[in-house]
Amino acid sequence: MNADPPVDWTDLTPQLVDAARRDRAWYLTIARELVGPADRLAVDVGCGAAGMALAVARMMTCGRVVAVDAHPAVLDAARDHIRAEWSDPRVRVEALRAAIPADTAALRETLGAPADLVWASAAVHHVADQQAAVTALAGLLAPGGRLALAEGGLPEHHLPWDVGLGEPGLEMRLNAAQDCWFAQMRAGLPDSRRMPYGWTEALRQAGLSPVTTRTTLDEQPPPLPDIVRRAVLEAPAGRVGRMRTTGLLTATDLDAWNRLLDPTDERWLGDRDDLFRLSARSVHLGVRP
Ligand SMILES: C[S@@+](CC[C@H](N)C(=O)[O-])C[C@H]1O[C@@H](n2cnc3c(N)ncnc32)[C@H](O)[C@@H]1O
Repeated sequence: MNADPPVDWTDLTPQLVDAARRDRAWYLTIARELVGPADRLAVDVGCGAAGMALAVARMMTCGRVVAVDAHPAVLDAARDHIRAEWSDPRVRVEALRAAIPADTAALRETLGAPADLVWASAAVHHVADQQAAVTALAGLLAPGGRLALAEGGLPEHHLPWDVGLGEPGLEMRLNAAQDCWFAQMRAGLPDSRRMPYGWTEALRQAGLSPVTTRTTLDEQPPPLPDIVRRAVLEAPAGRVGRMRTTGLLTATDLDAWNRLLDPTDERWLGDRDDLFRLSARSVHLGVRP
């Protein structure tokens, strides 16, 4: 048993709640494309605050959407969000605790029927054996059912290349350090296995065909709405916090970040009017023959 989990989901729950609200428009766009008129059972695995579960429910005329997460605090947030946003009795939206792939058999039994759509966003990459997770999720599908994985894409950018503190390229070096941290985090998961191929191949190895990918540009130019602005400030704060003890950032970069993230400093990022959000998000889709 790992006494010190690499990611503390309880700590991150408020950010997942913000993300579910902030990404509402993106979820609706993707759900509109993914949900078919005959879909009656959809599952959002590693649901966070259930943002996508709710978007999928909005696209269904009747049936059931099950938001699944392994972590109790996250699931509580998902339940609160569902309670606050959902009241249409034609589509039932519920939250359920299960860890993928360990609890897949129990989850299949609780679902009681094969799923028309399984969605997993930024969840499978936290599982020690990602291929086992993808295969487990594919096993929840009915024939013709679709597994959609929102994974990969491009890292988010929020800051100008030169913020006037330290050396230019601060955010790119932070993203590179985050990538190293992520590799170390994955290697440190108990029974971690590498998956030396892409998500489309993982879907194929899970027996799905055809497999396609769609990538959307996520662009929010300045001035940012408050909820996005908060996330833009929190994202580097979380990453820099992780880097303090890893040695993955230079002392010069850490000093610059310390000032940029300090609301009492005259260079605080929160006072800038040129913050933006730019990223690309990929959704990989496989169909069960
Ligand atoms: C980065 S968050 C993504 C949340 C949400 N899907 C989103 O895109 O905003 C990853 C989520 O996966 C959940 N999770 C991590 N490992 C899991 C597992 N083995 N089974 C189910 N959920 C898991 C975490 O609790 C967390 O809610």
